[in-house]
Amino acid sequence: MVQDAERNAERWARDVRTIRVIGTGAMGRGIAQLAAAGGVTAELADVRPEAVVEAVEYVSGMFDKLVAKGRMDAADAAAAKARLRPVGEPLTPFGECDLVVEAVREDMDTKRELFAALEKAVPAGTVLATNTSSLPVTAIAAPLTDPSRLAGLHFFNPVPLMRLVEVIAGARTAGWIPDALAALVRRLGHEPVHAPDAPGFLVNHAGRGLVTETMQILSEGAAEPVDIDRIARDVLGLKMGPCELLDLTGLDVSHPVMESVWTGFYTEPRLRPSRVGRARMEAGLLGRKTGEGFYPYVDGVKREPAEAAVPGDAERRPVWIHAGDADRARARGRRWARCCRRPGSRWSGRTRRPAGRSCW
Ligand SMILES: NC(=O)c1ccc[n+]([C@@H]2O[C@H](COP(=O)([O-])OP(=O)(O)OC[C@H]3O[C@@H](n4cnc5c(N)ncnc54)[C@H](O)[C@@H]3O)[C@@H](O)[C@H]2O)c1
Repeated sequence: MVQDAERNAERWARDVRTIRVIGTGAMGRGIAQLAAAGGVTAELADVRPEAVVEAVEYVSGMFDKLVAKGRMDAADAAAAKARLRPVGEPLTPFGECDLVVEAVREDMDTKRELFAALEKAVPAGTVLATNTSSLPVTAIAAPLTDPSRLAGLHFFNPVPLMRLVEVIAGARTAGWIPDALAALVRRLGHEPVHAPDAPGFLVNHAGRGLVTETMQILSEGAAEPVDIDRIARDVLGLKMGPCELLDLTGLDVSHPVMESVWTGFYTEPRLRPSRVGRARMEAGLLGRKTGEGFYPYVDGVKREPAEAAVPGDAERRPVWIHAGDADRARARGRRWARCCRRPGSRWSGRTRRPAGRSCW
């Protein structure tokens, strides 16, 4: 049994040769790319056989692009491609397999059912990991005969570029596994951080301040998505605004995360998701993956509306105020205020200076 093994985390990570990635959507294909580039054979599996074919083509194309840009050696790319192994169904009989990384849809029942079936099919020493964004790792592992073999391994999108990876121990995870997964993450060139098994872990909890708040701003009609994104980029200095991020992640992923973080913190008001998010998700306005989200996408390229001119800019002529002018204007204002307060003054009670009366 995995929990009985006296294992050395560093040695385990160094010896990992094969991982199986189950669910080859946006995340699974990125995890497969990272593994294959890092010298690990990546078996790709999905309930939809066509998703596996698409993922292998996609990742191979990514390696070709890296070669074309001079960021990867052609021989290394060929070797990495050879380490992509499409296996089809998730339960296709296992050979040697050190780790299974689950990246299927964000739904507790789906993940639990998959791990229950996997537990019976994987070799005894195989470690199980979930890439869940927000579901409790402890709860995913709870129905397993041996919950100690499962931990959270939370990559971010796009996986090859986002170097941070959260490693999460569930309440029953064997003590050596989080360290071993962290060592594997380092071997693959990414940066692990141990995170608590709390709703949203670290990053998606902190991130509520950006995306959940954005959805509230949108539902109040206070600003358009494009304006929120521009402010986030230009003022906060973010590379990507929250609406662009939601389009990249997919609202079918992000909205359930907002809901599960909110319920996970016992319906904490400041984490409450917006009705607009659910409505948009149900309408299929998911983002890049459906060609339309907060922005339309044509051939995968975002179409952003032109920035509106600042109102009145064109008509107004620039005004130059000399420091002396400003002092004189302030003094005039003080004289006018005194005059308004003086009993019996013809200007008493007036709050605006009459037009044309500029000298006091
Ligand atoms: N998209 C993101 O930005 C992001 C970031 C971090 C973590 N995650 C998490 O990663 C997981 C996957 O997200 P994604 O964005 O890649 O989703 P996705 O919709 O792009 O891909 C999910 C894949 O899983 C497959 N699938 C569904 N049920 C399955 C099952 N029972 N067995 C095997 N395959 C199954 C689907 O066919 C699909 O190909 C989710 O838990 C999500 O919360 C997503």
